[in-house]
Amino acid sequence: MISKRLQKLNPYKPGEQPNDRKYIKLNANENPYPASPKAAKAVKTVSNEKMGLYPDPESIDLKKAIAAMLNECNGVLVPADNQPQLPFSITEDMIFCGNGSDEVLSFVFYAFFDDDKPVIIPEHTYSFYPVYAGYYQIPLKKIPLNEDFSIDKETMVTTDSTGIIFANPNAPTGKSLSIDEIEQMLKSYPSDKVFVVDEAYADFSGHTVLPLLKKYSNLLVIRTFSKSMAFAGMRLGFAVGSPELINALTTTKNSFNHFPIDRICQAAGIAACADSAWYKKNCRKIMQTRDFFQSELQKAGWTVIPSQTNFILAGKKGKTGKEVYEAIKKEGILVRYFDIDTIRDYVRISIGTDKQMKQLLDIMKQL
Ligand SMILES: Cc1ncc(COP(=O)(O)O)c(C=O)c1O
Repeated sequence: MISKRLQKLNPYKPGEQPNDRKYIKLNANENPYPASPKAAKAVKTVSNEKMGLYPDPESIDLKKAIAAMLNECNGVLVPADNQPQLPFSITEDMIFCGNGSDEVLSFVFYAFFDDDKPVIIPEHTYSFYPVYAGYYQIPLKKIPLNEDFSIDKETMVTTDSTGIIFANPNAPTGKSLSIDEIEQMLKSYPSDKVFVVDEAYADFSGHTVLPLLKKYSNLLVIRTFSKSMAFAGMRLGFAVGSPELINALTTTKNSFNHFPIDRICQAAGIAACADSAWYKKNCRKIMQTRDFFQSELQKAGWTVIPSQTNFILAGKKGKTGKEVYEAIKKEGILVRYFDIDTIRDYVRISIGTDKQMKQLLDIMKQL
């Protein structure tokens, strides 16, 4: 009854959502602040008549709004002083929208990676990539991280492959490669293979590789509204790249689901893009809370991997991640641990409000 294909699948496991009691959820890298009130207002503009009509399949107005926001904020909500200026204007034909960046990523695997050679990923990165490789039966090669948890750039680009994908900043390490380092990788990588940088957390790092799109037409950048734009419940993600790559994603979409972004999400997304001031403010707050929490934990004797994201990886000598997770859960806070060799001794903690992080700090200082 069940296909052989399905029997081989190993699905993604998201952070738990228990309902035995009310927890502070710091286990899914969600934004602790609400989405823009203007987005919430836009949701209510979709009338019941409009609900009966299919949405724009290409989300053109939404793509224009995303392009305008990226151009206005120089690629990321809070650009660092040394983030280069975008050397061109991003236009809507360079954008593809999907039902969460998870869907965009799924289309990326289908559209750009063949099964004759492996797709290259770092050993520790977003755990959905191996799931998609399994789903589309694309061989996968995981390149171990360096000892300091950074990505082994050279091996990534010199291994024979059908394509490359990694998150920058990476998850769950929270570490980034610089734009120059990624450009070095692109220079050494065949220009006829797609090089994908998943920038789900870029807004919290101050940096983006979007300026490199001018020189490298095989570069594809993936973004999500889920993290810095507090839209995890709306499901909206996008890719930015050359029109040729965007057209390939559109063909994939139109062979799978013509209308991935519903009317409500399109309206809310457009309003959210026009309210970048709201998100800049909250993004700054999260970055400040992260830096404070990180340094307090270090002072309390925890090992912390310096993070460029809205989460940190932290460990305490003599305790496994699972033990730390269980002790924190007893106190009503959820974090995440990974049953994987190199990071078994760490927990991943999403950055919440100052109040939530102070509460967690008190618990962690007792451990
Ligand atoms: C690196 C990375 N990419 C993509 C995603 C998917 O985000 P979404 O499907 O909510 O847009 C996540 C979610 O946690 C992530 O960590």
